[in-house]
Amino acid sequence: MEFSVKSGSPEKQRSACIVVGVFEPRRLSGVAEQLDQVSEGYLSNLLRRGDLEGKAGQMLLLHHVPNILSERVLLVGCGKERELDERQYKQIIEKTIHTLNETGSMEAVCFLSELHVKGRDTYWKVRQAVEAAQAGLYTFNQLKTRKEEPRRPLRKLVFNVPTRRELPLGERAIQHGLAVSKGMLICRDVANMPPNICTPRYLAEQAEAMAGNYDNLSFSTVEEAEMAELGMNAYLAVGRGSENESVLSLLHYKGAADDVPPIVLVGKGLTFDAGGISIKPSANMDEMKYDMGGAASVLGAMQALAELQLPINVIGAVAGCENMPDGKAYRPGDVLTTMSGQTVEVLNTDAEGRLVLCDTLTYVERFSPDTVIDVATLTGACIIALGHHASGLMSTHNPLAHELLNASEQSGDRAWRLPLWDEYQDALDSPFADMANLGGRDAGSIGAGCFLSRFTKKYHWAHLDIAGTAWRSGAKKGATGRPVPLLTQFLLNRTAAGQQD
Ligand code: BES
Ligand code: MN
Ligand code: ZN
Repeated sequence: MEFSVKSGSPEKQRSACIVVGVFEPRRLSGVAEQLDQVSEGYLSNLLRRGDLEGKAGQMLLLHHVPNILSERVLLVGCGKERELDERQYKQIIEKTIHTLNETGSMEAVCFLSELHVKGRDTYWKVRQAVEAAQAGLYTFNQLKTRKEEPRRPLRKLVFNVPTRRELPLGERAIQHGLAVSKGMLICRDVANMPPNICTPRYLAEQAEAMAGNYDNLSFSTVEEAEMAELGMNAYLAVGRGSENESVLSLLHYKGAADDVPPIVLVGKGLTFDAGGISIKPSANMDEMKYDMGGAASVLGAMQALAELQLPINVIGAVAGCENMPDGKAYRPGDVLTTMSGQTVEVLNTDAEGRLVLCDTLTYVERFSPDTVIDVATLTGACIIALGHHASGLMSTHNPLAHELLNASEQSGDRAWRLPLWDEYQDALDSPFADMANLGGRDAGSIGAGCFLSRFTKKYHWAHLDIAGTAWRSGAKKGATGRPVPLLTQFLLNRTAAGQQD
């Protein structure tokens, strides 16, 4: 879809549809008021008759409003004016887009970007609207033989801003919102792809295809043979039970001088996690195709970054692997020597993500990174702790943790910090190796974070557990595209482009 901003008055718009807000109880917003005057009280009459209360999300589509140049006017209920918050704003936008998409308006001028949302400026409102519009229209129908498409889909959306002075802000919001949306799109497409198609090789092919589209993006892989030479035995062990070879894919984005240390994003890319010999129960096991949600979000963030052409160096590491039970599979009781030299006793082959990640975290030391952030659907315990609303953030570097929390606040892609205090480390003790791959049931997400922290001493490091946020279960099952907005915001904030004026 195409987006733009302008600053004009509602009665002068000549569009298929113009979108204005109505507050509860039956109160016209400022712009709606302007339309009302031009139409000689047409809108206020409707409200008086009780056609629209103004409750958040209510929609009333009007045709041929007297003296109005636009073909349609969409009145959108915005709830009580004082109570309009971020969440409600996003919900209202999403509903508006759906209504427009299904009622034949192929273009619209939207005045909802002028609503007052507590503590948020025009940049935020336009950017959130772009992201909500794009996300709301997402469908995954590549694998359906009959695709249902709306007959006259919305193609062009113009956001109105209150003053001409705010136009550049609005334009930047669109640019950023589109980049994030593009990243979320690839993230969702890759994560939704079934595990018989989306293998570690498929992830590599996606990364390679992306690199083909941008001059300053290049691609390489670490194949199993090289992993063996490097001693990445934990990574290799996890993939041993699968017919699909493990592949670590690397995307190198160069936006700054060679000697600027890169930020590295590491994504857990388990294209299927059956649990291995510690096999999972069969209920909902299909959802373990999303166990590459971290990898998908790294691909998404790299896509957004390449779109934005930010002046930083970033490496995306996609740790592709499949965890299956088999005669060759690794077992509980095995002791593995990781690339770092530290040994790990496997207590449960279903705690595989940390094994793939620990070797990847050691591997990326060679890039002398300034910062490494790993993103992983690592523990079911994170869903127990935080549900599906916030990603679990863990870090051994306070400033980095705060940067990520800020980015999460700005982007609306929430994260919440969990502690990595030394006291939690003891649970990983093993009688047979330097550590076990599991620390018991208590504080399962922190246990996994503690495990990873032992492989990240050479750089500033943070870990995002996205088990709860990367996908939705139930009727609307599918990948969410998170935490692409958070990661992209973090990268934006590392450059001047992210500084608000
Ligand atoms: N991929 C899972 C974590 C997961 C579970 C993500 C549910 C999303 C939804 C991970 O590999 C796993 O199996 N973790 C185990 C760890 C346990 C064996 C210590 C878990 O969470 O049960
Ligand atoms: Mn597992
Ligand atoms: Zn897993």
